[in-house]
Amino acid sequence: MIFRQLFEPVSSTYTYLLGDEQTGQAILIDPVISSMERDLDVLHRLGLRLAYTLDTHIHADHITAALELKRATGSKIAAPAFDRLACADVGVEEGKPFEMAGILLQPLHTPGHTDGHFSYLLGDRVFTGDALLIEGCGRTDFQNGDADALYRSVTEKLFALPDETLVYPAHDYKERFVTSIAQEKLRNPRLGKGKSLEEFRNIMANLNLPYPTFIDHAVPGNRQCGVCPTDLPDKLVRYCQQMSASPQG
Ligand SMILES: [Fe+2]
Repeated sequence: MIFRQLFEPVSSTYTYLLGDEQTGQAILIDPVISSMERDLDVLHRLGLRLAYTLDTHIHADHITAALELKRATGSKIAAPAFDRLACADVGVEEGKPFEMAGILLQPLHTPGHTDGHFSYLLGDRVFTGDALLIEGCGRTDFQNGDADALYRSVTEKLFALPDETLVYPAHDYKERFVTSIAQEKLRNPRLGKGKSLEEFRNIMANLNLPYPTFIDHAVPGNRQCGVCPTDLPDKLVRYCQQMSASPQG
């Protein structure tokens, strides 16, 4: 399998490319609209054709590139069925493997950051979206977020995976790329070292995070599988502008 971890700097989002060498088909997990041209360039350089985009959840900090990539390449839009997006071609559900050209993803419903949030297990690695970040986790104060649900998602589903499972999150803000279930059980300051539900609730209730800058534009745009508003204020325009294509591939 061809595998790339691609970074989008405006929202510090990781997009994951999974490609099958034999058929030339590819999946992009959590593609971002502002890095879409870069992603297309990487696919082209690798000789891959995009078959699916697959989002972990309805993002509040960026616009998904799902719809624009569909327009550009004919790819299908896969998203959690839970969110009932009219624009999705495929609704993923826990217990129903999502398969493309022998690449088999096991969808895991991991609510708490949003109620419809999914993680995707691929053999010895798991794409955890915003449910589990490197020494962190997604916030639980918007989009039907729920600290109790996130605690259960992480401790009962993700921490139940083998310790050596590699954890690829949807974001990192400190130039870290990957972690493991064992590392997070040990080092995650919110959920590691056997933190109790009570402790986690307290931590999440006292984060004092600012109101998310882009949420009022991103959520409606993402419920349409990735539509950029036309009337963005100047300070937010960068969320919808193409970043320059990377010289490497
Ligand atoms: Fe998110």
